[in-house]
Amino acid sequence: MRVVSGIQPTGNLHLGNYLGAIQNWVKMQDEGECLFFLADLHAISMPIDAAELSAGTREMAAALIASGIDPDRSTLFNQARVPAHAELQWLLSGTARMGWLNRMTQFKDKSGKNKEGASIALFAYPVLQAADVLLYNATHVPVGEDQKQHLELARDIAEKFNTDTGTETFVLPEPYIGATAARIMSLRDGSAKMSKSDVSDMSRINLADDADAIAKKIRKARTDPDPLPDTMDGLAERPEARNLVTIYAALAETDPDAVLADFAGKGFGDFKPALADLTVSVLEPISANFNALKDDATTLDSILQAGAEKAAATGAPILADAYRALGLLSGR
Ligand code: TYM
Repeated sequence: MRVVSGIQPTGNLHLGNYLGAIQNWVKMQDEGECLFFLADLHAISMPIDAAELSAGTREMAAALIASGIDPDRSTLFNQARVPAHAELQWLLSGTARMGWLNRMTQFKDKSGKNKEGASIALFAYPVLQAADVLLYNATHVPVGEDQKQHLELARDIAEKFNTDTGTETFVLPEPYIGATAARIMSLRDGSAKMSKSDVSDMSRINLADDADAIAKKIRKARTDPDPLPDTMDGLAERPEARNLVTIYAALAETDPDAVLADFAGKGFGDFKPALADLTVSVLEPISANFNALKDDATTLDSILQAGAEKAAATGAPILADAYRALGLLSGR
């Protein structure tokens, strides 16, 4: 089992990333060889500030280590320091089809009405994402629900590349989506995912928020006046309530129905303070570790450098196979 996944280093790590992906990353360190990276090459698909991007990359590395990613056990690095990602993206661009990329909902969402003005990188983004996982023959890719479509594309690209070249160059990766927290929604709108690009900071809980900020955001989270039912089926038409119960269950690492068994019949006046306490108890140690590490640029840079060297060595033979399969290196 080889686990590979990435996160964009723009903005703070929030509860959606943590419960949708990072919590799984931490657990998967006990189950297989893991490579985790900061997707800084992906970040340039949108307008960025160079100083913010390099600071954000270090900060996100600190946040991942604070969350439990152990750089002695996992390979932790940023994409830009491993040129093979960009190289393989180009090799895969001969295989990926315009029609496939045209169907990607993230491009539609992020380019909005201004498709002509969107960057080429925003359109080709999923091909880089395919390169990220195929470069290492990843078998499992832990992501939130919103990345599933990109992972399916990576499988399509791998399959077509292998068929077209008559080789078995790439392993087909499996998306690995945790059951309870695949989709954490905004605290202000149960139909929008919790996201770092939401203009309202009240919509998300950031890993760096202090206890008061967390309690306030949960107190003000949108809900309804009804009491909680005894099973999740009773929340089918109540997206905001469902989201808060999902968050509680994911933080407590239990089943949402088990949470409702404790809170059935109670209202949000009881549920919200309990959720706030639980959130603070999970995030407080992470936030303390993060604050201790985030300004230690020397340590963070040396971790990322060592990780990049390891990742480059792991990916090199697979990249060479891809060149060979296309007739770009002798030996075929
Ligand atoms: P990114 O940086 O947007 O998010 C990182 C991870 O967090 C998950 N996530 C969520 N899960 C549940 N609820 C939410 N509200 C929520 N918001 C974010 C995402 O699903 C993701 O797993 N393109 C990717 C980064 C990437 C990548 C890769 C991932 C680049 N290359 C290769 C896997 C494999 C992205 O922008 O994720």
